[in-house]
Amino acid sequence: TMKGSVISVLVVLALVDRLAGGLEHRSYDYTKYHTMDEIAAWMNQMERENPDVVSSMIYGQTYENRNITLLKIGFKSTTPKKTVWMDCGIHAREWIAPAFCQHFVKEILGSYKTDSKVNTLFKNLDFYITPVLNMDGYIYSWKEYTTRLWRKSRSPGTGNCTCFGTDLNRNFYANWGMVGISRDCCSDIYNGPTALSEPEAKAVTDFLGAHQNEMLCYLTIHSYGQLILIPYGHPNISAPNYDELMEVGLAAAKAITAVHGKSYKVGTPPDILYANSGSSRDFARLIGIPYSFTFELRDEGNYGFILPEDQIQPTCEEAYQGAMSIINYVHDKNFKSAAITVTVTLWTTLTALWISSANVF
Ligand SMILES: *[C@@H]1O[C@H](CO)[C@@H](O)[C@H](O)[C@H]1NC(C)=O
Ligand SMILES: *[C@@H]1O[C@H](CO)[C@@H](O)[C@H](O)[C@H]1NC(C)=O
Ligand SMILES: *[C@@H]1O[C@H](CO)[C@@H](O)[C@H](O)[C@H]1NC(C)=O
Ligand SMILES: [Zn+2]
Repeated sequence: TMKGSVISVLVVLALVDRLAGGLEHRSYDYTKYHTMDEIAAWMNQMERENPDVVSSMIYGQTYENRNITLLKIGFKSTTPKKTVWMDCGIHAREWIAPAFCQHFVKEILGSYKTDSKVNTLFKNLDFYITPVLNMDGYIYSWKEYTTRLWRKSRSPGTGNCTCFGTDLNRNFYANWGMVGISRDCCSDIYNGPTALSEPEAKAVTDFLGAHQNEMLCYLTIHSYGQLILIPYGHPNISAPNYDELMEVGLAAAKAITAVHGKSYKVGTPPDILYANSGSSRDFARLIGIPYSFTFELRDEGNYGFILPEDQIQPTCEEAYQGAMSIINYVHDKNFKSAAITVTVTLWTTLTALWISSANVF
């Protein structure tokens, strides 16, 4: 029948479209959550389509032997550059975090040619971006309904404890084991048998250690709670640049609110959330990376970790402005001070010349 053939044609067209989309990745949907396979394919696509500014680097393996890969983004340079780090998905169930890393990469790649500010960032900085750090956990959280809220890594417990997983954000060598952790391997905040027992935490630690002198900024993306957390998680230790971190954090929160009106709180974990230890944010600050922040994205608990897909776009839009507020501050402070030094030197020289020439007369 006529109706039947119209339907067949539509079905064929839909299949062809799907196949073409699958082959070319023409329209990656940033308003959906994606599986690890899709994200890995997207990372390859970013590298393939932007060979001048994107490369990838494997810097470790997960417990289940997956390659932990980051995207390095910026103009190529023969001289060493300053760097900015961003990781997403250290906690498996916080699906909005990997979605944000992808959104962030899309935005900077889509604007560096036309936006002079982003262009300058690409000149002076390299971004190191890990879209999914805890890949094993992320895949497990996609497995079935009952594992959707998985948080930890997927390594087995040691000794008599038979539960799986360590909280990677309690496993770093940063006041490890001191506060806000559990020694029970069945707990969601189990800090592992030893500091850096987990290969994922070890991989980040080694990478940061090798790049600590050039790294200006460390951003780690989580959900939920609408918070910007600064070091430290331990209540009795304060960052040497606490006041500045607060100032920069508050400016970022303001930038976030300006987009869709959502409010974000700023402070240390003990001040605005709960005390903790062994976090990657604290480790970064402890080894001397001056600007270290945790973002806790939307929401405030209504949907929690199961943030609906229609909130991905607005959440990422506002968090992008928050992250950019921090990155621009860090960049400008570092590179403008160099420009000011040159200007002051020049001005001093000219004044000296003028004075000496004045003396002649
Ligand atoms: C990890 O990367 C290496 C080097 O590119 C590759 O040979 C290996 O197959 C990768 N492993 C997995 C599990 O993808
Ligand atoms: C493990 O279990 C055995 C047998 O129940 C017990 O003797 C041992 O003390 C336990 N070890 C630890 C570390 O709890
Ligand atoms: C912080 O210091 C107070 C006062 O000395 C002490 O009672 C508390 O146990 C310390 N907190 C931690 C987590 O060590
Ligand atoms: Zn988290």
